Amino acid sequence: MDIEEHIRLLQLDSSDFKDEAHTSSQPVHVEPTAAREVKDKETSAPEDPKDEMKANKKRHLNVVFIGHVDAGKSTTGGQILFLSGQVDDRTIQKYEKEAKDKSRESWYMAYIMDTNEEERVKGKTVEVGRAHFETEKTRFTILDAPGHKSYVPNMISGASQADIGVLVISARKGEFETGYERGGQTREHVQLAKTLGVSKLLVVVNKMDDPTVNWSKERYDEIESKMTPFLKSSGYNVKKDVIFLPISGLIGSNMKARVDKNMCPWWNGPCLFEALDAVEVPPRDPKGPFRLPIIDKFKDMGTVVMGKVESGSVCEGDNLLVMPNKAQVKVLAIYCNENKVRWAGPGENLRVRLSGIEEDDILSGFVLSSIAKPIAAVYEFVAQLQIFELLDNAIFTAGYKAVLHIHSVLEECEIVELMQQIDPRTRKPNEKESSLCEEWGCRHMSHSGLLFVLKGKPLQWGKLLIFMLQAVVLKQFWCKR
Ligand code: GTP
Ligand code: MG
Repeated sequence: MDIEEHIRLLQLDSSDFKDEAHTSSQPVHVEPTAAREVKDKETSAPEDPKDEMKANKKRHLNVVFIGHVDAGKSTTGGQILFLSGQVDDRTIQKYEKEAKDKSRESWYMAYIMDTNEEERVKGKTVEVGRAHFETEKTRFTILDAPGHKSYVPNMISGASQADIGVLVISARKGEFETGYERGGQTREHVQLAKTLGVSKLLVVVNKMDDPTVNWSKERYDEIESKMTPFLKSSGYNVKKDVIFLPISGLIGSNMKARVDKNMCPWWNGPCLFEALDAVEVPPRDPKGPFRLPIIDKFKDMGTVVMGKVESGSVCEGDNLLVMPNKAQVKVLAIYCNENKVRWAGPGENLRVRLSGIEEDDILSGFVLSSIAKPIAAVYEFVAQLQIFELLDNAIFTAGYKAVLHIHSVLEECEIVELMQQIDPRTRKPNEKESSLCEEWGCRHMSHSGLLFVLKGKPLQWGKLLIFMLQAVVLKQFWCKR
């Protein structure tokens, strides 16, 4: 069987998953809109969850903040929360004092997102910060990723939950250059975000207020003109999927309101809130098989799991499976942000209270899954990879060991077989069986696509990523049964 036929058969296998009806006892016909929010205390909740859905038409987007260390991701995230009224002046004053006591005066805005002691002392994000805010049209979940290269796995987990990205770049003299050069996280984060499914980027050129920048058009243009070809080579359609804009996260300029013309007379484009509101919500499938990869769990009047709905919808009272251990559970309650909801669709970050399972029987990376079409648990699968960069002298071949990130799970895996080289331009397997073995490990292989069979612990259906110090990324995969 040739490779294309093989892939087609595997894809056909997977297409079983596509048209599944909802598994709950009450079938729900839904649109890809936001979850309907029913405040805990409200007693007049509509009987039918579909009516609740109509009540709240606000769309929902998960936004990951990425970029080089100290670019201003947490500061910008914190400023967004301040400007949208989530944080009051008194809290800001408290943070100003705390930051001063730690000799980190300028980090007070970042303290809104960086909540643990280690992060505040070092002035570096470690865990992905999570917060919510709303504009007139959209509810946003902010995921504030760490920029430091030691925490790239955490950045990956943030980006894998996101729909769109805000790439924060520091315009301060020398800082853009350090982030952009080889080994800098501006590059690495862009490439990882693209392969993790972050299809749209807002590139915010930050620290425009800095004395070395002073809202200089030349500096802004220089950054835009250097970033554009790089974003193109990373797979972004710069005209359609990327917006550049200047901001100051620290001062809050060009964020909720457009920048003052006296300060920046040359900018005629949108402010950050306008640009975020204009981003299209990516297509989602509320009628697909239910999939919620579990990020975390805790005990609270039952077992509560947290995660983002990747596919399908969930309704109070639904019976579901926790995979791969096939534990049957019932949905007792669903929380979206701080609100109790009766129903939630794809893209929502939820806490779901379950009966029928103990907290100890769940690990992060397990998947809350529909019963009719449970997620496949497999030991081997076929994957399409893109090699960004190999370590010096590394030979990428059968037996190569790597770490695999899929949504919230991280597993060791091994390359079992190299199947076919894929032409990066046509995205089709190369016609002639090239002498792959001789070429693997060579630098000129970066940016090529390859097909592999991987072997590991039971794995789930979804986006995949292999991370091997310099990142090799799996773009899609099919279960091999
Ligand atoms: P990591 O989480 O470590 O990757 O850093 P980060 O990107 O979250 O940066 P953070 O928000 O912690 O800010 C780093 C430093 O840059 C702090 O001293 C901030 O005050 C400063 N900074 C951030 N935004 C701005 C800005 O718009 N203007 C100026 N002048 N400084 C800024
Ligand atoms: Mg940070």
